[in-house]
Amino acid sequence: MRVIHLIVGARPNFMKMAPLHKELSLHQDRYKPSIIHTGQHYDEKMSRLFFDELNMPKPFAYLNVRSGTQGKQTARIIERYEDLILAGDKPDLVIVAGDVNSTIACALVAKKLQIHVAHLEAGLRSYDERMPEEINRVLTDRISDILLTPSLDANKNLIKEGINTDKIHFVGNIMIDSLVEHQKKAELSNIFDKLIMNPDEHYALVTLHRPSNVDEYDGLKMLLTSLVEIGKHIKIIFPMHPRTKKNIQDFGLSNYLSSSKNLIITEPLGYFDFLKLEKKAKLILTDSGGVQEESTYFGVPCLTLRENTERPITITEGTNQLVGLNVESIVNSSLEIIEGKVKKGKIPKYWDGKTAQRVVKVLDEWFEKRNIVTENIGNTEILFNY
Ligand code: UD1
Ligand code: UDP
Repeated sequence: MRVIHLIVGARPNFMKMAPLHKELSLHQDRYKPSIIHTGQHYDEKMSRLFFDELNMPKPFAYLNVRSGTQGKQTARIIERYEDLILAGDKPDLVIVAGDVNSTIACALVAKKLQIHVAHLEAGLRSYDERMPEEINRVLTDRISDILLTPSLDANKNLIKEGINTDKIHFVGNIMIDSLVEHQKKAELSNIFDKLIMNPDEHYALVTLHRPSNVDEYDGLKMLLTSLVEIGKHIKIIFPMHPRTKKNIQDFGLSNYLSSSKNLIITEPLGYFDFLKLEKKAKLILTDSGGVQEESTYFGVPCLTLRENTERPITITEGTNQLVGLNVESIVNSSLEIIEGKVKKGKIPKYWDGKTAQRVVKVLDEWFEKRNIVTENIGNTEILFNY
């Protein structure tokens, strides 16, 4: 029996780990997966809601780290995750996903305790070190023993960095496993009733949360001005991330938004409601990594409000476009799509709902090679609840 910790912390981690937890649980003869939740995201609508929707079990441990500066948050995760392992629950493998602070913090703890680490969604690069996520990605990949990539550009990036090809496995996009599994439930969402909207009405869907977009007054005001302008042509649905909401309030920009009747601002939405909105949108404007990918899967035009993306395949093969960070570019690019000039795309290879199966195959071979079979099945109680 191999004990595996699956680390989650922030919203996008849930969609990535749920399918892997489910798949590993189908093989209880050889795997015992436990979810460890760092508590980086903690609001009901940024965390618990997804456990219910994605049928994930209660976490084995909840580290309750909450928010903080980059250093403080990362340090709290390191301290508490190390405490958990030293208290007696030493896994055979730790799997981290994506690029959030919980990813690098837990990878670092495991590696220093001589526990092997697998990185799900390895190899993505924006080459923009101003982003905390890029630092998290590069460092996590550097210390991981198993690198599970979503697309072949990621393999190339890792090879360029001198990483041994034996460690690199192209498994596909695990977030799409969740999408494929829950698509039917998403169809049944009554989000349009909740928003008091006609489902046939055209709309743009917006999400924003990158510090580079929402942490400075001028940049945030520019983006809100763009939305108000676009709102003169199409309805906009904007489920607001807590970081963005806080900054809009702190900068005194709330009234600015209420000037547009076509702008519907909501709390962060549940996964099913959000997927339904993505699928039916005329246009998506975002700075989210996952939303760029999901819009490519749905074939919905996406304008990424960033200077770069670590997910270039959504541009080369999908429906994504980077758009200049100024009002004119954002509004003009949106109007082109509204008028019907849309970029066609295709679904990239292995974005097919079967990535978790491929990951388990890689793990089977990896464990077999090393002959790691342990009888430590861990404590089934929740050991830590800070
Ligand atoms: C984090 C990730 C980012 C990811 C995003 C997904 C890092 C460095 N950043 O960014 O890569 O794209 O999650 O959503 O790991 N807050 C709440 N309630 C919550 C969570 C956050 O109010 O449940 C507020 C707090 O004011 C907090 C702020 O949002 O300070 C930012 O949260 P944090 O987790 O630090 O970063 P995100 O912007 O969410
Ligand atoms: N998402 C959601 N509700 C929302 C916004 C996003 O369920 O209101 C989902 C979205 O479908 C995707 C994931 O959250 O699966 C993306 O997370 P986020 O944008 O927070 O993080 P990123 O991908 O940028 O790291």
